[in-house]
Amino acid sequence: MNNFEYCCPTHVVFGKGSIAKLRELIPQDKKVLMIYGGGSIKKNGVYDQVKAALEGYNLLEFGGIEPNPKYETCMKAVEIVKREGIDLLLSVGGGSTLDGTKFISLASCYDGDDAYDAIMIRGEHPNRAIPIGDVITLPATGSEMNNGAVVSRLATDEKLAFHNDNVYPRFSIIDPEVTFSLPVKQTVNGIVDTFVHTMEQYCTYDVNSPLQDDWALGILRTLIKEAPKVLANPTDYDARANIFWCATCGLNYWISLGIVQDWATHLIGHELTAFYGIDHGQSLAIVEPRLLKNQKVAKAQKLAKLAREVFGVTETVDLKAADIAIEKIEEFYNSIGMKTKLSDYGIDASEAAARIRDRFKKRGTQIGEKLQIDADVTYDILINC
Ligand code: NZQ
Ligand code: ZN
Repeated sequence: MNNFEYCCPTHVVFGKGSIAKLRELIPQDKKVLMIYGGGSIKKNGVYDQVKAALEGYNLLEFGGIEPNPKYETCMKAVEIVKREGIDLLLSVGGGSTLDGTKFISLASCYDGDDAYDAIMIRGEHPNRAIPIGDVITLPATGSEMNNGAVVSRLATDEKLAFHNDNVYPRFSIIDPEVTFSLPVKQTVNGIVDTFVHTMEQYCTYDVNSPLQDDWALGILRTLIKEAPKVLANPTDYDARANIFWCATCGLNYWISLGIVQDWATHLIGHELTAFYGIDHGQSLAIVEPRLLKNQKVAKAQKLAKLAREVFGVTETVDLKAADIAIEKIEEFYNSIGMKTKLSDYGIDASEAAARIRDRFKKRGTQIGEKLQIDADVTYDILINC
C-alpha cells in the first residue's frame, strides 16, 4: 500500500427528517446565501423544509445553477456574495448545484479578472474560501464529502475539474427521502456515476490493499443489488438510503487511500458532455466499457477479481474473466435502462473521436494510472464507442 494522508472535515447528517437539523448546524448570526438549481426543490418540498428550518435567519437566495454548472451563471452569484458580505453558502440540490457552490465559494475570494482561467486552468487559487454547507438531493457525485468540483464554461465548450481543501463542505445533510422525487433518468445516471467512480479507483493494478478493494467491491455489489429495487419502487426508503451511502462512499476518497487511480473514463466523458451536452452518467456508460477493453491487459488482475467476487464468475484465466467482467458491467448498465453507445444519442463516433483527439493533442493530455492514454489512444477508444 502507498503512503497517504486523509482529513475530511465534513460533518455528515444522514437520514429521514435531517433537514430540520440545519438550525443546529448554522449559527443564527450568519448571513446565508442559499443556492439551488432549476427548481426541483420547489416541487418536492425540499425548499419549504429548508425555509422552515431557517425561519428568522438572514437568508438570501440564488437559483438557476444548471446541470453541469456554468461559470457564467456562477459569476452572477459571486457578485451577490461580494456585495452582501455572505458568511455561509448553503447548496440545496444535486452535485451540479454543490459544485457550482464550491466554485462560487473560491471565486468570491478571488480578485482578478477571469476566475475560470485562474481557478480551473492555471490552478491559482485564493488561500481562503467562503464556508459551505449543503443539503444534497441526488446520489451520484460524492461532492457532499469531497473537495472537488467540475465546472463548465459555455463560451469555450470546456468542462474542467478543480480540487481545494477549503471547499470541503462543513456539513452535508443526506436525507434519502428527498430522492423519492428523482426522475428515473437521474436515478440511473447517479447509479452509473457511482459505479464508475468506484471503478476509476479500484480498477488499476494491485498494490496489496485488500481492505480498499473489499470496500470498492462492496459498493459495486450493493449498487447491483439495490438498483432494481429503487427502479421498481422509487419510494423504497431502505434502497434509496443504501444507494445514497454508496454514492457518498464512492467518492469520499476512502476507497482510494494508498492506492493507484485511473480517472481516464471521466476525463474523456467530460469532453463528450462539453461538446455534445450528454449527461455526465451517460458519457461514462459510453466510454467505460470500451476503455476497459482497450486497457484489458493492464487491468486484467483487478477485472478478474471483480468478475469473480462481484459477478460470481468461475473462469480461472484472468484475461478471459476480465472479458466477462466488462460484458457484465455493460449488461448491468443496459439492464437499468442506461444506453452505452454514442449512436444511441445520434453522435457520430468518428467525428467525436477526431474532435477529442485534437483537443487532447493541443493540451498534451496523458491520462490513466500510468499516463498510458494519450490523444491517439483516446481516439482508438472513442472510435469503438
Ligand atoms: O436543477 P434542478 O431543478 O434541481 O434539477 C436537477 C437536475 O435537473 C435534478 N434533481 C436533483 N435532485 C433532484 C432532482 N430532481 C428531482 N428530485 C431531486 N431530489 O436532477 C438533474 C441533474 O442534477 P445534477 O446536479 O446535474 O446531477 P448530478 O448530481 O449527477 O451532478 C452532475 C455534475 O457533477 C459533476 C458532473 O461532471 C456534473 O457536472 N461531478 C462532480 C464530481 C465531484 N464534485 O466530485 C465528481 C463526478 O465525477 C462528476 O464529474
Ligand atoms: Zn462522475
